[in-house]
Amino acid sequence: MTERPATVAIVTGASRGIGLAIARRLVDDGARVCLTARHAEELDAAVASFPSGTAIGVAGAADDPDARTETVRRTVSELGPIDALVNNAGINPVYGPLADLDLDAARKVFEVNVLGTLAWTQEVVRSGMGERGGSIVNLSSVTGEVVSPGIGWYGITKAAVSHLTATLAVELAPRIRVNAVAPAVVKTRFARALYEGREEEVSAAYPLRRLGTPEDVAGAVAFLLSADAAWITGEVLTLDGGLLRAGGTA
Ligand SMILES: NC(=O)c1ccc[n+]([C@@H]2O[C@H](COP(=O)([O-])OP(=O)(O)OC[C@H]3O[C@@H](n4cnc5c(N)ncnc54)[C@H](OP(=O)(O)O)[C@@H]3O)[C@@H](O)[C@H]2O)c1
Repeated sequence: MTERPATVAIVTGASRGIGLAIARRLVDDGARVCLTARHAEELDAAVASFPSGTAIGVAGAADDPDARTETVRRTVSELGPIDALVNNAGINPVYGPLADLDLDAARKVFEVNVLGTLAWTQEVVRSGMGERGGSIVNLSSVTGEVVSPGIGWYGITKAAVSHLTATLAVELAPRIRVNAVAPAVVKTRFARALYEGREEEVSAAYPLRRLGTPEDVAGAVAFLLSADAAWITGEVLTLDGGLLRAGGTA
């Protein structure tokens, strides 16, 4: 089966950082993209930076069912049937050992990172991707592969995202491919506390001697969504400058 290139994509959590870089790369490659994020002002500014007619924005939280339905409805009506979904929105508001973890906070992280990823997938599959076919990429993390002290619960939710990816890949084949990327530290607002003021020291653990950029992730996501990856499904592609191979943790 020859795959068509993605023409219409939804990227969640795309007003800045990795999501915005992914949206930009997909548009550069010829797609039209719907960007989501909670805060409308930053989202509108991001959308305005795209060439006219290539991007729309729908504000709303990734774990809000009404926002998901409205995003899919507007994407289909304004851009066309959805070929690609990037489940990029993810949160990590808690820090510390699991023994002290606030369970309400833990539920919220699971709700956004894991159930959000599943729910967006359900929504786009029902919108027509189930019949037309398509491709999905989820944002996992190296913290889902190795134990990361202090951000353990976040890592557990990302491990769940990786397993969700594999399970969905098997269930949604052969029409829909589902893969994930698992980055180490990428220089965004989200990860700032992990490197700010000590970037050289943190980078020293990476064989490639630098942290990731949003564009590093965008390139890998664009590849997994593309026809060049037509025989790849259920994979989690580690993007870490060699960190895990060198025995490091994020
Ligand atoms: N940066 C890293 O080192 C790193 C490493 C591995 C994996 N990741 C994963 O990569 C993804 C993107 O992270 P990032 O570093 O690009 O973060 P970022 O720079 O903080 O950007 C996050 C984006 O998501 C939106 N967002 C946050 N919470 C949301 C929610 N509940 N619903 C909808 N949108 C939401 C934000 O806008 P609003 O605030 O307006 O909602 C923003 O557009 C996340 O899944 C993260 O876990 C990041």
